[in-house]
Amino acid sequence: MKYKIPLFKLHYGKSEERAVLKVLRSKWISMGPITEDFETAFAGRLHAKHVLAVSSCTDALHLAMLVLGIGEGDEVIVPALTFVATVNAIRYVRATPVFADIKSSVDLTVDPDDVANKITPKTKAILVVHYGGYAADMDTIMALADKHGISVVEDAAHAPDADYKGKKLGAIGDIGCFSFFANKNITCAKGGAFVTNSDEYAQRARLLRSHGMTTLSYDRATGHAVDYDVLDLGYNYRIDDIRAAILLAQLERLSTDIDKRSTLVKEYHRLLTGIDEIILPFEKYPYRSSHYVMPVVLNAVKVNVSRDEIRRRLQLHGIQTSVHYPPVNRFDIYKEYHSPLPRTESVAQSEVTLPLYYSLETSEIEAVVESLKISMRE
Ligand SMILES: Cc1ncc(COP(=O)(O)O)c(C=O)c1O
Repeated sequence: MKYKIPLFKLHYGKSEERAVLKVLRSKWISMGPITEDFETAFAGRLHAKHVLAVSSCTDALHLAMLVLGIGEGDEVIVPALTFVATVNAIRYVRATPVFADIKSSVDLTVDPDDVANKITPKTKAILVVHYGGYAADMDTIMALADKHGISVVEDAAHAPDADYKGKKLGAIGDIGCFSFFANKNITCAKGGAFVTNSDEYAQRARLLRSHGMTTLSYDRATGHAVDYDVLDLGYNYRIDDIRAAILLAQLERLSTDIDKRSTLVKEYHRLLTGIDEIILPFEKYPYRSSHYVMPVVLNAVKVNVSRDEIRRRLQLHGIQTSVHYPPVNRFDIYKEYHSPLPRTESVAQSEVTLPLYYSLETSEIEAVVESLKISMRE
């Protein structure tokens, strides 16, 4: 079915088309100089020392686990209210995910007190998620990690160019991981970035991104190298210059995209505030978010209709919604890592993600809010 108001629309234009054409005509399409240009530009945006463009955020998360030396018997503390890829990265290296609860139905990021309770001698890292482009409590998390001598990885898939106390999300912990999948603020269909200020982590991740090889195809094609050695058991996590060119064009749009989303979120909040049935996460958020999604939480005390029924009714009104997220600890393969997470469970049953994208009109927001009110009350 075609929705009248979909969850997401691409924010693409002529510059993306021109960028792709230019790479195609250059006759070098795999990872090369345009990828480097993107890495430099993104590093500048984040004030980070190293950016490695990769094929997905999932790849970046896997590389993060590898370069931190995390493996079997180690524990990584992670929220369950995230996309499954965050947690899969922990399992790729055979480490144990330890799920921590979120703060509340207003702040859907990981609760540092619960993280502190779950630190053991086996804990190697805290893997935080900046849910929807809203910062986890990084000051407290970094202090905890410092105290216990453990690492912090930021899953910043939702948070390109989001601010936190004069810093950029994804460039605060030991490693930050970004996604450029098709529904993200900036996208090249499928891509990601590994971000770090550590020379050592960057060097190892660079090697692992490309089969553990000491030189790149581009170096050899341009005569800068003639052969290579293989130093490590690497992967093929490279991006290519076609996608990097799209990302460079997308990066030009990022500030206006975030500004517009911020205005749209304010409009949603203006129309939804004071409605007893609705709790508005991050309504009083103090920093610049990237506003990746527009979550609302249904107030279980006031709403008699199930979340899924409300979503079905919205669908009948032509409005696409989503859920961020079915909690990972409930998935079959993660059941053995289950621990009680009352706030996560409650939000996961009552969260609805409303449409949000650059070209969304105020009149469409009004229509979504009206339909939501009707769906909760009819
Ligand atoms: C929080 C989070 N982490 C990781 C990922 C994985 O990103 P990718 O699809 O680029 O691998 C996603 C994707 O939606 C995500 O939302």
